[in-house]
Amino acid sequence: MRERLLDMLAGREGEFISGEEASRLLGISRTAVWKHIRKLEEEGYTIEACRNRGYRLAGTPDRLTATGLQARLKTRYLGRTLHLYDEVGSTQDVAKRLAEEGAPEGTLVVAELQTNGRGRMGRSWLSPKGKGLWMSLVLRPAVPVLCTPQLTLLIAVALCRSLRLQTGLDIGIKWPNDLLADGRKISGILLESSAEEERLRHVVAGVGISVNLGPEDYPPELREKAVSLRMAAGRPFDRTETAALFLETLEALYDLYREDGFEPIRLLWEALSVSIGKPAVLKTPHGTVEGVPLGLAASGALRVRTADGSVREIVSAEFA
Ligand code: BTN
Repeated sequence: MRERLLDMLAGREGEFISGEEASRLLGISRTAVWKHIRKLEEEGYTIEACRNRGYRLAGTPDRLTATGLQARLKTRYLGRTLHLYDEVGSTQDVAKRLAEEGAPEGTLVVAELQTNGRGRMGRSWLSPKGKGLWMSLVLRPAVPVLCTPQLTLLIAVALCRSLRLQTGLDIGIKWPNDLLADGRKISGILLESSAEEERLRHVVAGVGISVNLGPEDYPPELREKAVSLRMAAGRPFDRTETAALFLETLEALYDLYREDGFEPIRLLWEALSVSIGKPAVLKTPHGTVEGVPLGLAASGALRVRTADGSVREIVSAEFA
């Protein structure tokens, strides 16, 4: 009901909707409409109420709140245990500590600001206050360590699908897990795992989504390479919605992965990939590989056809 009311208000784009019309369209009493409106206000939405005209959405919250996120989330276990901070060094470090202490699967750590946001390959991750989603999830999949790359690909698929759904942008996945809009990076994934012999103990999946950053938020060296959802779409987005859609999509795909294995995820990844068919130079830990990515192997490795016609499988590399 909450979502339907919110969609209705947002769909009016700043126009009033009368209590009577809302009550008719939603099939609930006017008092129930009013109660839902009060709840939305508690979550941080600004709603104007005008005696003769009804209700009008005047502002969406630009602060994440635990109540707002929990109220919006339809997941069974992802994000059900939630730790929300104004400021942390890195949500990865907080989530890792919680995971070591036995936090349940799906525990989510979110911060409005990271002072020491980390990216892959020892890079830093720009995480300005209130502009994005900086979050880390604790997962405990019962799979061998060898399958860890599959989890990264799975998260990239969930992220790509949920962001496309929310924004309508043509977002694609650059192998292995960068999300691009207009060829520029919009989101990144950092997977850190703890293993015992061949078994994964837990995984901390860090996801950074540049939601509402403006051009002024980016240092000059990133302006050509990175972009936010807001800049790409020309309008801001509700971060609670971004987080909820992502977690819901991820939960469905994670369940599918545990039921049916990697194959369905592999096909989804390939359908969203912008790397397949484009000649590439890949820097692997064992040297540089030049060739054309063909798709994913059953293991999740990237299959690349090289100049001599042979097919190599790459597990980890960076595009040169
Ligand atoms: C990359 O593409 O290099 C990965 C970026 C991952 C960034 C996220 S933001 C939340 C979590 N906390 C961190 O310090 N990093 C990840």
